[in-house]
Amino acid sequence: MKLSPAVATALNVQMNYEFESAHVYLAMAAYASELGLDGFVNFFQVQYQEEVAHAQKFFQYINDRNGRVEIQGFTTPQKEFSSILEAFEVALHHEEGVSSRIHEIVKQAHAETDYFTVSFLEWFIKEQVEEESNFHNLISKIKLLQDGAGLYLLDQELQTRTFKPIPAE
Ligand SMILES: [Fe+2]
Repeated sequence: MKLSPAVATALNVQMNYEFESAHVYLAMAAYASELGLDGFVNFFQVQYQEEVAHAQKFFQYINDRNGRVEIQGFTTPQKEFSSILEAFEVALHHEEGVSSRIHEIVKQAHAETDYFTVSFLEWFIKEQVEEESNFHNLISKIKLLQDGAGLYLLDQELQTRTFKPIPAE
């Protein structure tokens, strides 16, 4: 079954948006570095790697369906924040946007009875639950620990986050 032009476009847009997301988090890593919060730098660097892996997953899928991958440019990510808390709030908002984008593509794939794409996107639907929950939890923690010592401890904890490659299906 051939990819429809509309679904191919939607998948390409999402692939590029995953690369854009990677840059959003890399800009947050740079901001955290300026604050001297190395654990947060590590956290956002891992997030960056995850987003690149998400984009690569779309890249692979479009190729597997004999579609044409189209790489685009994107807007400059936000680089200044009023606090590390604000960076996380922007991140959560960003992930909520990603979730709705994914849901829209699923809707479109369903409408076109493209169940290959529906099945491919299931992984992302589950992943988005985790992404939103991660940022929600960290926002709560940051709010609880806003004094310097608490943030220092959280910074230490985030130092331990590691990137786990997505297993091949
Ligand atoms: Fe993503």
